[in-house]
Amino acid sequence: MATFSLPHQSHLFSSSTLQTRTRPRCTISTKVRMSLQETGPSLAVVGVTGAVGQEFLSVLSDRDFPYRSIKMLASKRSAGRRLPFQDKEYVIEELTAESFNGVDIALFSAGGSISREFGPVAVDKGTIVVDNSSAFRMDEKVPLVIPEVNPEAMENIKLENGKGALIANPNCSTIICLVAATPLHRRAKVKRMVVSTYQAASGAGAAAMEELEQQTREVLDGRPPTCKIFKQQYAFNLFSHNASIQLSGYNEEEMKMVKETKKIWNDPDVKVTATCIRVPVMRAHAESVNLQFEKPLDEDTARDILKNAPGIVVIDDRATNHFPTPLEVSNKDDVAVGRIRRDLSQDGNQGLDIFVCGDQIRKGAALNAIQIAEMLL
Ligand SMILES: NC(=O)c1ccc[n+]([C@@H]2O[C@H](COP(=O)([O-])OP(=O)(O)OC[C@H]3O[C@@H](n4cnc5c(N)ncnc54)[C@H](OP(=O)(O)O)[C@@H]3O)[C@@H](O)[C@H]2O)c1
Repeated sequence: MATFSLPHQSHLFSSSTLQTRTRPRCTISTKVRMSLQETGPSLAVVGVTGAVGQEFLSVLSDRDFPYRSIKMLASKRSAGRRLPFQDKEYVIEELTAESFNGVDIALFSAGGSISREFGPVAVDKGTIVVDNSSAFRMDEKVPLVIPEVNPEAMENIKLENGKGALIANPNCSTIICLVAATPLHRRAKVKRMVVSTYQAASGAGAAAMEELEQQTREVLDGRPPTCKIFKQQYAFNLFSHNASIQLSGYNEEEMKMVKETKKIWNDPDVKVTATCIRVPVMRAHAESVNLQFEKPLDEDTARDILKNAPGIVVIDDRATNHFPTPLEVSNKDDVAVGRIRRDLSQDGNQGLDIFVCGDQIRKGAALNAIQIAEMLL
């Protein structure tokens, strides 16, 4: 039996000096953890071998999430592989309908079709599913939650109710954008938002990260790049997001930002437009966000609001030209915001530009889902 470890978890991920993890790594003793393991919920991680699945384990550990048991689930391909986690070694199991017997909370990250097939099965067995795919996000019966933004959307769902339920994690670009924009929206009400994204390979999963690394080596060696995940050369290039293009000319990733923002802000009238681009960054997305407000909001007040908002670190040093970068937020919990400035194209203080970076595997996926799971306890 092989022991599982992801090949891409390398030094490429981060060189940051920021210390922004929400809680320190593994602070509790084995004894305390064992007592928590008697009382905590039973968990299942669906898609545990993937980029998000691996991050689930890291975040569970970092936040000392209490659990009494945990099932490691993936496809048949991975079944039987050993996976060390905390003080134990687990065997990865193939996901089946029986996987959810006795499971209180299931963290899903195995793609939309798996969520559509197994999410309802898990709910029928009394499991609360926190789903990372887009399968249920726009279902009006399913809350779409960013804990810093709209925790009230899931206030009726609790573990103690003993009932299964679905909760959707928003799209990673939407989460990063709205963590930053919501504190400003609460003060001055956003009328229109224009977003341009610079999205990392990790957003397309573990295999895309490996492809970027492989292509980079191949191009530097003067060899033709291997294109399996993306249709075109990714290393030393950038291109429009690989999501499918709709009749409107927008791609699906862009429309997720448009639709999900309206649902999360409970504001069908807010105007949102987005252009989503893949850039050859290994991990963490960047976004340029232009905001138009109903009420005036000057840039100093905006900076203060952002400095005091949860889940945000402000990096906005004009003197040294130091602003957020994907590397600085990689493996970090907080979303970094900078380039905070008045939009000169709008009258008075009715508009702002900001630049946002966030680790989309962490806050854009695994961390957000585990924050949701914490609210169930
Ligand atoms: N990457 C991100 O930043 C990000 C952010 C937000 C949301 N998401 C969403 O999260 C999901 C996973 O993304 P990812 O980036 O982690 O993808 P990934 O690295 O490609 O991992 C996919 C996972 O799904 C599992 N899987 C595939 N087919 C399966 C099956 N038939 N039964 C059970 N498990 C199966 C894989 O297991 P095997 O190893 O056994 O094949 C693997 O664990 C997607 O819905 C994605 O849209 C991703």
